[in-house]
Amino acid sequence: MWASAVLLVLLGSFGANALDNGLARTPPMGWLAWERFRCNVNCTADPKNCVSEKLFMEMADRLVEDGYKDAGYEYVNIDDCWMAKQRDANNKLYADPERFPSGIKGLADYIHSKGLKLGIYTAYGNFTCQGYPASGMHLELDAQTFAEWGVDMLKMDGCKQMDRHTMKKGYPQMTKYLNATGRPILFSCSWPDYERGAGIPINYTLVAENCNIWRNYVDIQDSWQSVLSIIDYYAKEQDTLVPVAGPGNFNDPDMLIIGDFSLSVEQAKAQMAMWAILAAPLLMSNDLRTITPEYRDILLNKDVIAISQDNAGIMGKRVLQNDTIEVWTKQLDISTSFGDYASVILNRGVSGMPSNVSIVVREFGVHDLMGFWDIYDVFQDKMHYYVNVDDFYSVMVNPSGVAVLRFYPTRLQFAKTEP
Ligand SMILES: *[C@@H]1O[C@H](CO)[C@@H](O)[C@H](O)[C@H]1NC(C)=O
Ligand SMILES: *[C@@H]1O[C@H](CO)[C@@H](O)[C@H](O)[C@H]1NC(C)=O
Ligand SMILES: *[C@@H]1O[C@H](CO)[C@@H](O)[C@H](O)[C@H]1NC(C)=O
Ligand SMILES: *[C@@H]1O[C@H](CO)[C@@H](O)[C@H](O)[C@H]1NC(C)=O
Ligand SMILES: *[C@@H]1O[C@H](CO)[C@@H](O)[C@H](O)[C@H]1NC(C)=O
Repeated sequence: MWASAVLLVLLGSFGANALDNGLARTPPMGWLAWERFRCNVNCTADPKNCVSEKLFMEMADRLVEDGYKDAGYEYVNIDDCWMAKQRDANNKLYADPERFPSGIKGLADYIHSKGLKLGIYTAYGNFTCQGYPASGMHLELDAQTFAEWGVDMLKMDGCKQMDRHTMKKGYPQMTKYLNATGRPILFSCSWPDYERGAGIPINYTLVAENCNIWRNYVDIQDSWQSVLSIIDYYAKEQDTLVPVAGPGNFNDPDMLIIGDFSLSVEQAKAQMAMWAILAAPLLMSNDLRTITPEYRDILLNKDVIAISQDNAGIMGKRVLQNDTIEVWTKQLDISTSFGDYASVILNRGVSGMPSNVSIVVREFGVHDLMGFWDIYDVFQDKMHYYVNVDDFYSVMVNPSGVAVLRFYPTRLQFAKTEP
């Protein structure tokens, strides 16, 4: 009781200043083009994979027909390179007419007809990262244009903005203009990452007042090394980043690369589990038309998604570490007086054999009332009842893989019948 009350007060006091547009109460889920499809704009050379309305429509179809929408993935997000090379006669942005013959409005109608939401991309500064027209001098007009088209989410990048000190003013201006449209538009800001890159102190209170999600660190690439380097950054900065996360506001370690070229099945499970523990947006960047079932199953794992989408919105922390094993723990469901937890044991070892990891239950950072936990191993689908907090919990964890554990306070009937 005491612990939950204190936590609620802490979250409440931060939440009062958070961006108030009703969105991203849990980490947003969906699909985002960038990591997998980049700025591939030559539809003559590569009609199947070029950045075009057809690509987004096909991904929307897959989201609906292959179970992703039912699992919670709802945003279909365009990234860079969708625009025509100039603004129109009224200074408005418009989509490249050859690649987006229906225009963004037409694409939004299609996406909405599937029960999904559409995200779009711009940049602060005069050009996008790939040199397309961006919103620097036209924040208000562009906010209105996006709202007219029926856009539901906006990612605002920043790479061609030379003076990054102006971002503390420019991003909040965009927040105001988005709000003034009257359309709820989830705002994804790249601002803290650019400040970090330039050595400018980041004010996360200000960021959370103006953004629903925000990038903290470099772009993910298609490699396990990239995934690990991102995890390391969040561990290093966790004392700063954990307090700013909560319903409406999430740190964004960038896209899921599950089902792309590099991650093994074990590594894919590890990314999925870590992103869930971090309360990270789950934005897949992959080809849903060709993904194989073993990767699809990881993305659709209901128990891992439940950890990600827990309504308390708490970001997990690294609680234990040695050279190869890390333990990360996230508190869940603080609305109940007991509280559940989820943990990920991440094995960074490369020794070829699974590691036998043994940890005293208390050291997972789970705070008990009863002294006993029922521990569910998500990927092994196995429940271990009535584990004493002072006992060791042992599990085999594959190299560059994870064990995902969910801790439920032992219910009294188990304490009596299954000692
Ligand atoms: C605009 O901001 C106000 C006050 O923070 C909030 O109540 C309202 O829901 C916001 N509207 C939109 C569309 O974001
Ligand atoms: C697109 O690809 C085709 C076929 O490879 C090539 O002939 C054409 O020059 C390319 N167009 C552009 C604008 O690069
Ligand atoms: C954007 O263009 C305007 C008008 O041409 C110019 O004043 C401004 O300095 C430019 N901003 C950047 C970041 O280049
Ligand atoms: C950070 O932003 C908040 C909210 O706008 C503001 O009250 C506070 O003074 C800022 N902190 C610093 C160090 O500038
Ligand atoms: C790291 O921790 C794990 C789990 O407690 C243990 O199995 C392993 O032996 C440890 N490795 C080292 C080098 O301490």
